[in-house]
Amino acid sequence: MSSSIPAFEAGTSAADGPISRYLDALHDRLLPLRDGEIATYIPELSTADPDAFGIAIATVDGHLYTSGAAGHPFTIQSMSKPFTYGYALRSCGVARVLEQVGVEPTGEAFNSIILDNVNNRPFNPMVNAGAIAVSELMPGDTPEARLAMMMDFFNDLAGRRLDIDEAVFASERDTGHRNRAIAYMMLNSGMITSPPEDVLELYFKQCSINVTCADMAMMAATLANHGTQPVTGRKILDPDQIRDMLTLMSTCGMYDYAGQWAYEVGLPAKSGVAGGIFAVIPGQAGIAVYSPPLDQVGNSIRGVAVCKEISRDFGLHAFSDRTMVQTVIRREYRASEVRSKRLRSVAEIAVLAREGHRIAVLEVQGALFFGSAERLIRRLAALAEDCMAIVIDFKRCSDADPAALRLIEEAVARFGEAGPDLVVTHVPGDHPLRALLPGGARGTGRVLTLPDTDTALEELENDLLSGFFETDDLARFALKRIDLFHGLDEGCIKALEGAVSSFQFSAGQQVIREGDDANAFFVVASGAASISVTLPGGQRKRVASVGPGQSFGEMALIDGGKRTADVHADSAMICYAFSVDRIREIAKARPEVLTTILQNLVISLTTRLRMANDEIRNLV
Ligand code: DON
Repeated sequence: MSSSIPAFEAGTSAADGPISRYLDALHDRLLPLRDGEIATYIPELSTADPDAFGIAIATVDGHLYTSGAAGHPFTIQSMSKPFTYGYALRSCGVARVLEQVGVEPTGEAFNSIILDNVNNRPFNPMVNAGAIAVSELMPGDTPEARLAMMMDFFNDLAGRRLDIDEAVFASERDTGHRNRAIAYMMLNSGMITSPPEDVLELYFKQCSINVTCADMAMMAATLANHGTQPVTGRKILDPDQIRDMLTLMSTCGMYDYAGQWAYEVGLPAKSGVAGGIFAVIPGQAGIAVYSPPLDQVGNSIRGVAVCKEISRDFGLHAFSDRTMVQTVIRREYRASEVRSKRLRSVAEIAVLAREGHRIAVLEVQGALFFGSAERLIRRLAALAEDCMAIVIDFKRCSDADPAALRLIEEAVARFGEAGPDLVVTHVPGDHPLRALLPGGARGTGRVLTLPDTDTALEELENDLLSGFFETDDLARFALKRIDLFHGLDEGCIKALEGAVSSFQFSAGQQVIREGDDANAFFVVASGAASISVTLPGGQRKRVASVGPGQSFGEMALIDGGKRTADVHADSAMICYAFSVDRIREIAKARPEVLTTILQNLVISLTTRLRMANDEIRNLV
């Protein structure tokens, strides 16, 4: 056999360590296995080297692990069959394809001359009869166009230009009388209608495409990657087409060895008489092996052994399921345990500690599908019994399939008017759940979307607190109700009232800049502000927020140094500002002004420290 395929280069990055070492050890252990016979019924195949032995694994992100002769070219043979089946599904649609060929395993050899006369079609596309019938569905107006388009399809799958081994093709065409018999029998019963020689020519060419283990692993990885070629990023097949291909590979891919294979390896796979086998680990990787000596059934002996060992050693059997539906809820807490970053008065904190259990937060993780979505909606229903609001944080959940969307949509419809408020956070515009939210394709309008869980908690705490405090507007209550001035007598409060200046800020306006001199502190009269620091990467991190009655910038009273954070108004805000110099001046006549404020400040800082400790305890 000859080939114009460029020299193959194996991946050699440091990431190759354990898996490459495993493959090399497996290769060396199985190389001495000298059982089996090279296929000779296609004369040109008999020249293959029985000790050419390669293994390749390609991941869904395109990383290639190889061992042995993974770059050695050989003809794809029957390993082409699932791919042409996928191409027919893509070109003609599933209904037309099912008219042409069935989906029942035969339990017979690949070249058996049995046809499904009841349905007037071959049994399945993995045996020769079915694959020949599928060849008739290849798109293109002329034999040349059909060949060119089919080759383009295979090139796209491999991510490089493949060629045809003309010697193998000629050998198959000249000796493939059994396939010829099958094609004429199918013509006789109307299973195909095109001239059999045209159909066979394309079928023999399809079987004579030169590939390497590396190519086959990458093609398998394309199937594992839901139809997108891992290296080129090209979308070649749809997930539904892949599902149909993998189903037939599972039931018929290994011919009359299919049952044993399913039992021991448990991966959809396909073999070819030139000695190739490829298997698909859906969502993870593709495996390919090349070793020409075949067993009685026509499967590569080393190829079967390699797949058995890899599947067993890495727990890859399709039914050894490790889906963790129980971890879908990463963490659950109540607003009594973890509060928002909003600084609160002592009285508010007491209310939140007592009543905050009515606000629940669920942090969801991983993909949402039937099983995990079921867990989530069951927990939501239980929480709905005793909560006034539930926040679902989707920060660590990036995917939801249609089944999960349906379940969540129905569960969500029960919230809002009848049940508790539902607030979802961290659902960006491209998230599949977005469709269910207000403004999305199926949005119910019952769910509130907020960018992050802290903001959601803050709003829900405000709602809860509004039922316990008459007003949150300091403009309408006296300075003496501010925690910082708690304990001061009327005379002191009067003195402070004479020292206050009031400022208005618009939403987003900066109140304090990190690094500026700290010579005044503020009390929020109405509105709210966020205190944030700049992280080393330049992003802003909100560390706290303040509302009416809360003070900020009080560190100025202690060290009078520089501001350590930025403060921005969240909404239109009125603030009372107290100059540190003025407070010190008042304290000359009334020293208790300063001592009381400092004492209250210590209490406030202690409360914040306790809160930070509680948060760490509850969130770790
Ligand atoms: O039809 C044939 O005989 C070959 N071109 C392909 C057969 C094949 O690879 C069977 N697989 N194990």
